[in-house]
Amino acid sequence: MSLWNDLGFSDNPYSPRPIQGDEQGVRLLIGREKELKRLTTYLKSSDTHPTVEGPNGVGKTSLVAVSSFLLKKDFLEENSQQALLPIPEPFQLTPDETTTSFKRKVLLRVAQAFIDNHDTLKSRGFNAPDSERVGQWLNSPIFNSKGGGFTSPIGGLTATHGTTANTSAGFSEDGFVTTVLTWLRECFPTNSTGGFICTIDNLELLETSKSARALLEGIRDEVLGVKGLRWVLCGARGITRSVASSPRLQGVLADPLLVNPIAEEHIERLISERLGVFAVSSDATVTVNSEGFSHLYRVGGSNLRNAMKYSEDFSFWVVENDALDRIKENPYELIEAWMVELAELYEADTTGVGGRAWEVFTKLALIGGNTSPSQYEEFGFESNQAMRPHLRSLEDAI
Ligand SMILES: Nc1ncnc2c1ncn2[C@@H]1O[C@H](COP(=O)(O)OP(=O)(O)OP(=O)(O)O)[C@@H](O)[C@H]1O
Ligand SMILES: [Mg+2]
Repeated sequence: MSLWNDLGFSDNPYSPRPIQGDEQGVRLLIGREKELKRLTTYLKSSDTHPTVEGPNGVGKTSLVAVSSFLLKKDFLEENSQQALLPIPEPFQLTPDETTTSFKRKVLLRVAQAFIDNHDTLKSRGFNAPDSERVGQWLNSPIFNSKGGGFTSPIGGLTATHGTTANTSAGFSEDGFVTTVLTWLRECFPTNSTGGFICTIDNLELLETSKSARALLEGIRDEVLGVKGLRWVLCGARGITRSVASSPRLQGVLADPLLVNPIAEEHIERLISERLGVFAVSSDATVTVNSEGFSHLYRVGGSNLRNAMKYSEDFSFWVVENDALDRIKENPYELIEAWMVELAELYEADTTGVGGRAWEVFTKLALIGGNTSPSQYEEFGFESNQAMRPHLRSLEDAI
């Protein structure tokens, strides 16, 4: 029994994980009607790949997962003839990735997606490859030696074991690439017939816009240009916007869809929907109600992921401190008490921050957490250079 079961929930209602692309995800995703519409319309109608930009923890991954699921659902329920089928789990690009290694990774997942969607595609008249042929490739020696690691439904072989793997001639790396590209072309001859939706998430992992641009320009033709694949690129801190404006990527990537923090007016519905989805009985014990969550959301700088994490941590604290009864009386007050305790712990752990630096910190917090070097006078300094060491000691303490 988990703590959540004890409280009367089937699972953690404050999970900081992204919302999944499924029916439950559709219920959990609140306040994104406009963004959902834009992203799905784009995926259905544009020849450029959509990009999504927004601050950390705002809900980008969740938005893309639910949009992709809705498109798949439309096809499965025959509301649409366009087969837009998400490849589960986003891809990530790291600085040591090469075009060849990334393309290989993508095409392996495409091959798996052909197996997963085989029956649906065939039944709707699509020219999808036979799963037996796909299985032969996934069980071929090139994947055994490189450890492709895919489970094939054909006799349950896996590409990493494969004592019974296909050892006949003709299975080569180049052959695999050509074969999968042909499958894609034959199955999805035009954008309006559909394609697999692939996401590259967390572009900010590439750290600088320059390296992100270089890598994406490198994969432009061989990965982003592959017929039958619809890409969604997601990132934080302006990286997507800067990449999408590269001259070599214009006409390939669309202007970013900006995902802003969920407005406070939606927070109550957001939390009550979560509690409703996960509660198994009407008398489940709510550790963070909508009022408490709104407070944590504000404190966490409108970062939903942070607010979820704080709510989760607070729930553990309540149970550890046998405070469930007190929470029913005044939930808000208890959140305040927990935050004070947490702040004291952080303060005790902080070394190397002098009195003047703490004054800077307090002022910074009062003005909303941001400043620029030219604002030194507001902080009582004579120059930017005089303020700098105090900011640095705060940065070092993070
Ligand atoms: N529209 C929404 N309604 C309800 N909950 C949401 C919504 N969007 C996101 N969440 C929740 O907020 C948290 C953060 O979401 P998500 O991981 O999608 O954000 P992100 O922008 O991709 O974050 P990161 O910058 O870390 O990649 C998760 O707990 C998710 O379940
Ligand atoms: Mg994300």
